[in-house]
Amino acid sequence: MSPPLIIAVDGPAAAGKGTLARRLAATLGLPYLDTGLLYRAVARRVINSGGDPADAAAAEAAARSLHAADTARTDLRGPPVDSAASTVAAHPGVRAALLDFQRNFARTEGGVLDGRDIGTVIFPDAPIKLFVTASAAARGHRRWLELQARGVAADLAEITEEVRRRDANDAARAAAPMVAAADAIPLDTTTLDADAAFATAMALIQARLKAGLHS
Ligand code: DC
Repeated sequence: MSPPLIIAVDGPAAAGKGTLARRLAATLGLPYLDTGLLYRAVARRVINSGGDPADAAAAEAAARSLHAADTARTDLRGPPVDSAASTVAAHPGVRAALLDFQRNFARTEGGVLDGRDIGTVIFPDAPIKLFVTASAAARGHRRWLELQARGVAADLAEITEEVRRRDANDAARAAAPMVAAADAIPLDTTTLDADAAFATAMALIQARLKAGLHS
């Protein structure tokens, strides 16, 4: 019997990973996990308890006491949590605390997981890995549109800079940095809308499945 199918979708902030991964999961009948929500929920716990996201011990304690329900909170998006999530995600103890949850999530039925280290650390043997990118300007603009849609006033240049800063932080950390796995398929969505990104990703996945890499 073949192992359950796991699709890793990694890449920088606001590249379109979440929208794409959710749609791939629905189409392929696989469970979907947005792993960024785990780091966001840890950051929210630390902030709410008056702690400092840069404090490794406080962040690890928050990660160890995390419940799956924490990821359903409605206050996990927006600039303060964005950057605090990137800060707590740099602590090795936080990453270690969240490892088993992510692996167990896809153990029986497989899944589509999006994040930064799914194809390199969480599921290095995943048969399909996408590394989704877009220019910093396009990603800043998308994040700005998201905030607008939620009624949050924001400055485009500031949001773009914040996205850049967060990517630099996520790529430069020592623990599981954001990097494309050697066998990841690159997908640049700078000029693709959500439908085009989905169609391109499906074609790439089907080609890889056909080539027998998932047998
Ligand atoms: O995907 P996101 O923007 O919601 O993620 C928020 C932060 O969490 C991101 O800046 C880095 C961190 N993260 C991570 O380090 N590893 C993951 N697998 C997912 C997110």
